[in-house]
Amino acid sequence: MMPKSQPVRPQVLATYAMPQAVVEQFGQFADLTVLDGVSDQEQVLARCAGHDALVCTLMNRITPDFVARLPASIRLVATYSVGFDHVDVAALKARGIVLVNTPDVLTQATADVTWLLLLGAARRGWEAQAMLRQGQWHGWEPTQLLGADIYGKTLGILGFGRIGRAVAERARGFGMQVRTYVRSPAGNGLADNVHLCGSLEEVVQESDFISLHLPLSTETHAWLNADRLALLKPGAIVINTARGGLIDETALINALRSGRIAAAGLDVFVGEPKVSEELLAAPNTYLLPHIGSATTGAREAMGLSLVRDVDAFFAGRPLASRVVIP
Ligand code: NAP
Ligand code: GLV
Repeated sequence: MMPKSQPVRPQVLATYAMPQAVVEQFGQFADLTVLDGVSDQEQVLARCAGHDALVCTLMNRITPDFVARLPASIRLVATYSVGFDHVDVAALKARGIVLVNTPDVLTQATADVTWLLLLGAARRGWEAQAMLRQGQWHGWEPTQLLGADIYGKTLGILGFGRIGRAVAERARGFGMQVRTYVRSPAGNGLADNVHLCGSLEEVVQESDFISLHLPLSTETHAWLNADRLALLKPGAIVINTARGGLIDETALINALRSGRIAAAGLDVFVGEPKVSEELLAAPNTYLLPHIGSATTGAREAMGLSLVRDVDAFFAGRPLASRVVIP
């Protein structure tokens, strides 16, 4: 009797280590090779031969040149992120390569970190930690480490998508009014503390805190520049969990140094993981190393979302999170 032929298992290359449950689930249908955190394009390309899918992260720049040099066997790129500004989607499309990402499953974790930044920046969390840990705390004083009030203030949300809306929901508990702007006509169901403005600039003008949740694109690059920072109320606070490139960092540093804004809470940076010395030295910042989605649950769910789509792709089933449709 002829032996039964085995179904062909897709060959999947991942550039970074992933949670164990994700590795195990890939192993159910694919042969998975996991690199040890490789962001260098040449090193990734050197390992791509013989693979059908590439699982990358936002540390991997998927540029036109990189895409042009991918072997013909690669038919799918799966990014371990919701943001895909590191990927040249037009180049993938031109080569007929599909892109999938990880929306939804990291929304709540990232909204939580937005509030960690907002609270940390407003209440001078970094300075307070440093004072205590460096033995500089000599007791309670009426004028010590005074920060900004949060309760009852106005929060401006720039980018009212999945994460922006989740941040707005949390604002209710802080008695905050929310200002935002949507390009498409507003649907029903806005909470009573959410007010729509006529433009992103109007949101900036009317808010005590602004929080960025826009995707980075040619349209939004350096959107928060010196002119728009000048629209903020004096003493406003800027929060960014979206992408560093949304902000002109030099203009932000100048606004912090001059006291024009009271503080900034940032999870993302231009040129990260390198963070500019000027920004590190600027007063009143609360800075985190891009940990928006860094919970066990969210990172596992992100990986499992990619597992489902990679499996579906090679089985010819519809994809849940397809970004590029060649
Ligand atoms: P999303 O649901 O697509 O939300 C983005 C929103 O921005 C959409 O509502 C979009 O509106 C709006 N928008 C885009 N351009 C605009 C413009 N010019 N004017 C007004 N609104 C505009 O994405 P998300 O899941 O909330 O994620 C947002 C971003 O957060 C991601 O792209 C990623 O860069 C970042 N992120 C960071 C972390 C982290 O670890 N720090 C984690 C997750 C995500 P339209 O529908 O009109 O386009
Ligand atoms: C993280 O920054 C993401 O886009 O998922």
